[in-house]
Amino acid sequence: MKSRRATVELCRLLRDSGGTVVSGGVVSQVLSLSRQAVWKAVRDLEEEGFSVASVPQKGYILRELPVYDLAPSLIGSMISPDCPWGGEIHVFESVSSTQEAAKRIGRQGETDGIVVIAEEQTKGRGRRDRTWVSPRGAGLYFSVFFRPRMLPGRLQLVNLAAGLAVREAIRSVCGREVSLKWPNDLLFRGRKICGILSEASSDPERIRDCCTGIGINISLSREDLAGGGLENAASLGWETGPVHRGALCAAVIEKFYLLIAGLSGDGGESLLSRYREECSTIGKNVTVLTEEESFAGRASGIGENGELLVENGKGSRSFCAADVVHATPEGKGL
Ligand code: BTN
Repeated sequence: MKSRRATVELCRLLRDSGGTVVSGGVVSQVLSLSRQAVWKAVRDLEEEGFSVASVPQKGYILRELPVYDLAPSLIGSMISPDCPWGGEIHVFESVSSTQEAAKRIGRQGETDGIVVIAEEQTKGRGRRDRTWVSPRGAGLYFSVFFRPRMLPGRLQLVNLAAGLAVREAIRSVCGREVSLKWPNDLLFRGRKICGILSEASSDPERIRDCCTGIGINISLSREDLAGGGLENAASLGWETGPVHRGALCAAVIEKFYLLIAGLSGDGGESLLSRYREECSTIGKNVTVLTEEESFAGRASGIGENGELLVENGKGSRSFCAADVVHATPEGKGL
């Protein structure tokens, strides 16, 4: 399933009309579409599971939203019309990885901010070549393909932005506070519920394109997680009950876009200062694990390119890519 501009805008218009009839003429005018194209958009919405009644001589009225929480036009309509990302949303039943699918689709055209979501991933990937357990219907697995204007050395800022965006989206959609562990793991009561992976294709001078994949455990069972060796992970829905994945996805996209757009204005200053305030790793005793070594110390800050600064009795080090284990527990309730 795929969203189209017409179905997203029609959905937005009908939802905004608050259950009243919108005349066919108004729909044609607002969407700049012929009556026939409006009719086709109505049919497409119905295929996505919306119930739209056409009232003779009057117009259209939205009777019901789809039960399916990943209906692409519904997600599109939940994103602010001022946000250029999410104009194209593809939802697949099953893919190997949304990263591959988003790159393939994104590189075929010029569109920025293409979103690919899957019900299931058969080869979901995590950082450092790990597997991301992605059973059908139990998570929100999606990738955003975009073309940031930045130098390759600053890719970590994209990861930080995505982490902040997910944290804020969980707060606004689910009313829960989660903690943000450097660089971008989201923890709920100290257990990982979300992972983020950004992959870029770069020239020496610039990033050509970037694909940021986000996996949020919504209702994976303990067995699902243990099967992937993730005994210490958790699912957001264990605590919140059912989560509308589409609403969460829309909120992440909008917030992520705003943070990335802000990077070109101030070179990352405001992103970094917000991240330094919100990242729970700072000030904690940590162990940093890289391919080569393990380094224990106190996380003292975040550098200009998003690197983690760690100090111990022997000196201070900075890490660009690593896993971090918090020795100090998360704050109460996180
Ligand atoms: C991590 O190791 O913490 C990063 C996990 C990233 C998982 C997401 S799920 C959607 C996208 N597709 C993938 O194959 N991986 C990312």
